[in-house]
Order: sequence, then C-alpha cells, then structure tokens
Amino acid sequence: MNPLEIREYAPEDYNNVKTLWLKAGLVLSHSDTEKELHRVLPLNPQLFLVAEMNNRLIGTVLGTFDGRRGYVHHLAVIPEFQKKGIGTALLDELENRYKKLNVVKIHLFIETFNAGVESYYEKKGWSRRDDLIMMSKTLRSHSDD
Ligand SMILES: CC(C)(COP(=O)(O)OP(=O)(O)OC[C@H]1O[C@@H](n2cnc3c(N)ncnc32)[C@H](O)[C@@H]1OP(=O)(O)O)[C@@H](O)C(=O)NCCC(=O)NCCS
Repeated sequence: MNPLEIREYAPEDYNNVKTLWLKAGLVLSHSDTEKELHRVLPLNPQLFLVAEMNNRLIGTVLGTFDGRRGYVHHLAVIPEFQKKGIGTALLDELENRYKKLNVVKIHLFIETFNAGVESYYEKKGWSRRDDLIMMSKTLRSHSDD
C-alpha cells in the first residue's frame, strides 16, 4: 500500500475537501461554505487534518478547540478507501494533537440518520452521553452574508 500522509488542511484544498465530504455522504451546511469554513483556520490551524495518498485527498477530520473543550467534526474517508484504517489514523493524530494542547475532554456529534457510526466511535473509546440534550440557536440569517 502506498504511504499515507496526514497533514494540515491548506485553503487550496477546499474544493477537493468539499467533493470528498459529499462523496462520503456528509450533509453540508452553511458552515461548510468556503468563507465560513476558513473562519476556523486562524483559530486552530493544527487541528484541521487531511489524509493524502499519491497526492490524492482521501480523508479529513476537522478539530476545533474553544479553550475549554475540543470538538471533532467531519471525520470522513472517501468510500473506496474506507475500512483501511485511514479514519482511525486521522482520529488518532487529532487526539494526539489535543493531548499536546492539554485538552481534557473532546466531544463529537452524530446525526441521527448516521447512528450506525456510533459503534465505530465506541470501539475507539468514545461513549455516548445520555445525560445531555443538545440545543442550538440561530443568531444570523445566511442571507446576511
Ligand atoms: C466513519 C469513517 C470515517 C470511518 O473511516 P474508515 O477509514 O472507514 O475506518 P477505519 O478503517 O479506521 O476503521 C474501520 C472499522 O470501523 C468500522 N466502521 C467504519 N465505518 C463504520 C460505520 N459507518 N458504522 C460502523 N462501523 C464502521 C469498520 O467496520 C471497521 O471495523 P473493524 O475494525 O471492527 O473491522 C468512514 O466510514 C466514513 O467516512 N463514513 C462516512 C462519513 C461519516 O459517517 N463520518 C462520521 C461523521 S460523525
């Protein structure tokens, strides 16, 4: 197998990353437009990772740290490269980076339509929280852009 490289996301990766996310079946939102996504880059550039093989972008994970908790978003591998350990390699690298930042706890969200992936995270030491209810509030309309 060709060597897998995990590196930090660069702004030029945007179109390939978006294509990858759609191929992997992620549901994209306004936060995933180029302008919105690039707002996170100056905050935690070392936590947005991509996996490459032969210069082809095949996986991503987007970490964000707000100073209190870390978050894992958009772990995705393109279908033909799934089940080869690439998702695990991305997640392990991100977790190591969080450890270096001395982060105590990391969270992630699974959309209910994708509930099957819960067992994947459980095998990697994550546990489901039944003591929390997630709530959201929209502060601006997308048409304000
Ligand atoms: C979830 C995902 C990132 C895993 O990446 P991957 O490179 O295929 O995973 P790995 O090769 O590291 O791990 C493979 C293991 O995870 C399991 N696995 C992979 N995807 C799974 C899923 N959707 N549900 C349950 N188990 C899954 C495999 O069966 C395998 O288990 P085994 O080791 O017991 O055989 C990838 O399947 C993916 O991109 N899925 C679509 C996007 C998605 O749902 N992302 C998560 C958003 S919360």
